[in-house]
Amino acid sequence: MATSGSKQPPRIEPGVRGLDSLIEGGFIIGDVHILAGGPGTGKTIFSSHFAYNAISKLGKRAVYATFEESAEYFKRNAKQFGMDFSPYEKSGKIRILDLDTLRGKGLESNISLLLAALEEIEGEILVIDSLTALLMACETSFELRSFMKTLYRSVKNNGTTALMTVSTTSEGKLGPETFLVDSVMLLENWMDKFEFKTRFIVLKMRGTDHSRKYHSVILSPEGLSISKY
Ligand SMILES: Nc1ncnc2c1ncn2[C@@H]1O[C@H](COP(=O)(O)OP(=O)(O)OP(=O)(O)O)[C@@H](O)[C@H]1O
Ligand SMILES: [Mg+2]
Repeated sequence: MATSGSKQPPRIEPGVRGLDSLIEGGFIIGDVHILAGGPGTGKTIFSSHFAYNAISKLGKRAVYATFEESAEYFKRNAKQFGMDFSPYEKSGKIRILDLDTLRGKGLESNISLLLAALEEIEGEILVIDSLTALLMACETSFELRSFMKTLYRSVKNNGTTALMTVSTTSEGKLGPETFLVDSVMLLENWMDKFEFKTRFIVLKMRGTDHSRKYHSVILSPEGLSISKY
């Protein structure tokens, strides 16, 4: 629970219903947060909520880098959940970057592009969906670690609050990209008799007295929300 206000680092609402109370009110501003999960667990919907809430309710500016889905597909999907990014894109509140177009251009140019976009719009929020796809260009684990270090340092130096999605392996394992970052949240699909369900847990969040319990994830036409079992 949040205690004496003065010692608390500034936080930003995650924009996902039910999550605030599990993480002392929000993500620490300026930290790098990872949302890991298997296919279809809601990583993109979760990230959309974070970005949409930040721009529409909190008046922040954001850069949203989509890698696997095109920018158009991303916007169309988000609209289904009541999040219309188009007016905010037009007014320069959000820059949606389709990083797939940069595939093969090298990781450094991807980072430069993200940083340039953040600078241009004076963005305070960065979403990368997905980091796993971006890291595919790394040929060795050494390269992956050093790229992560560069990305982490660049984002931290900028004071940006970042949310990056990561795909877990079929055994649910987390990759080395999760070691360096400030927080790791996990979405998991699991079988409950004949129905698959989705659950959420915070695995680490530096500087935060976070919940250590699994919570239920509800995916509905209103989007994603988190609630007690
Ligand atoms: N209108 C809807 N109502 C309820 N649930 C929905 C709706 N649309 C999508 N879903 C659920 O959301 C899931 C997709 O969510 P999302 O795209 O955020 O997952 P993801 O983790 O990003 O997937 P991927 O690994 O493919 O990137 C679908 O598999 C489905 O279960
Ligand atoms: Mg996705």
